[in-house]
Amino acid sequence: MSSLSHACNIADLRRIARRRLPRPIFDYIDGGADDEVSLDRNRSAFDGHALVPDALVDVSAIRTATTLFGQPVGSPLMLSPTGLTRMFHGGAERAVARAAARHGLAYALSTMGTTRLEDLAAGFAGPRIFQIYIFKDRGLTAEFVARCKAAGFHGLALTVDTVVAGNRERDRRNGLSIPPRLTWRSMLSFAMHPRWSLSTLLSSPFDFPNVSHRVDALAGGPMSLFDYIGGQFDRSIVWKDVEWLAGQWGGPLSIKGLMTPGDAKRAIASGATSVTVSNHGGRQLDGTPAPVDRIAAIRDALGPGPEIVCDGGIRRGSDIVKALALGATACSIGRPYLYGLAAGGEAGVDRALTLLVEEFERCLALLGVNDIAALEPRHVRPCGVK
Ligand code: FNR
Repeated sequence: MSSLSHACNIADLRRIARRRLPRPIFDYIDGGADDEVSLDRNRSAFDGHALVPDALVDVSAIRTATTLFGQPVGSPLMLSPTGLTRMFHGGAERAVARAAARHGLAYALSTMGTTRLEDLAAGFAGPRIFQIYIFKDRGLTAEFVARCKAAGFHGLALTVDTVVAGNRERDRRNGLSIPPRLTWRSMLSFAMHPRWSLSTLLSSPFDFPNVSHRVDALAGGPMSLFDYIGGQFDRSIVWKDVEWLAGQWGGPLSIKGLMTPGDAKRAIASGATSVTVSNHGGRQLDGTPAPVDRIAAIRDALGPGPEIVCDGGIRRGSDIVKALALGATACSIGRPYLYGLAAGGEAGVDRALTLLVEEFERCLALLGVNDIAALEPRHVRPCGVK
């Protein structure tokens, strides 16, 4: 049996990924900002919610299907956008998308992804979302919108928690610039790594094909490209820019990186159809609350209509159950599928999704819930409350 089939949970896949990747690359996936308080809290907050089961409910069939971004999905789970995915495995975004499609799940491609959005759309029939930024050059953002329409993307997710880069100290200690500066030392450490394949290194993992056509002078190499793009993020964006984007796009739009009921209401009033409650997986502002602990208040503020996606810290199927009971429409995962990708390419992502979906369905059965629409706040209790 392969080590993948021995993996019983996401933590096992993480251990395999750690063995397979050079340390700086693993830490780039795994780490968070500053003291990693948000990173740890995102996960531990789920332990603060106890599950309260109903007995003697017919759970011979469990209904998990729903819609997200206007598209039917098999489970209320989606795959978050992650940049530089090819750095973790040569199969990159297409491997992730194929595994997502097999499970009937939505996948969001990052602007900083390593696959052209048109190429991803051509090979992925499932619900596809494009994660977008508002650039100083609005023409570049408008061009993305037009390309997404032409390529048949179903939704956009505007990330708003990245006006400046978070302080990732693991990366600084490891000397990892993003993308890595290929010094002799770093090349030696990567090349000597027994499992990180040379083909990954040779597959241009530090290219950003969605934006590179906009950079005329690449003479300075990938570092200057990254600087160019980072310098293009507009720090002055405000709600009227969301209105502008919603008007350009005219389809399902989520604002990713919100944490308060007030901002969630403004997002919907500005033309968004969905909010993604997220602190960027603890990679940006450190010390924030965990997304799962903001869901109930945001659902109260928005009422039953708008989609709320809970993003960050989900490592078990029971975490999805808890977020849904608190009012989320769906959950989104970043690191769990990246650990799978690094552990075994497409088969590894497949394993990560299988584990989470099976855990989710088992948890619903044990909770006495046969339809996700029947999940209610009474199914969770803060620990310590009788
Ligand atoms: C991310 N995330 C992210 N978000 C985004 O909007 N654009 C991006 O390019 C990236 N890139 C990225 C790279 C890596 C390696 C990670 C781990 C994360 C954040 C991501 O979309 C999501 O919000 C978090 O990963 C969710 O937290 P968990 O599931 O990783 O705990």
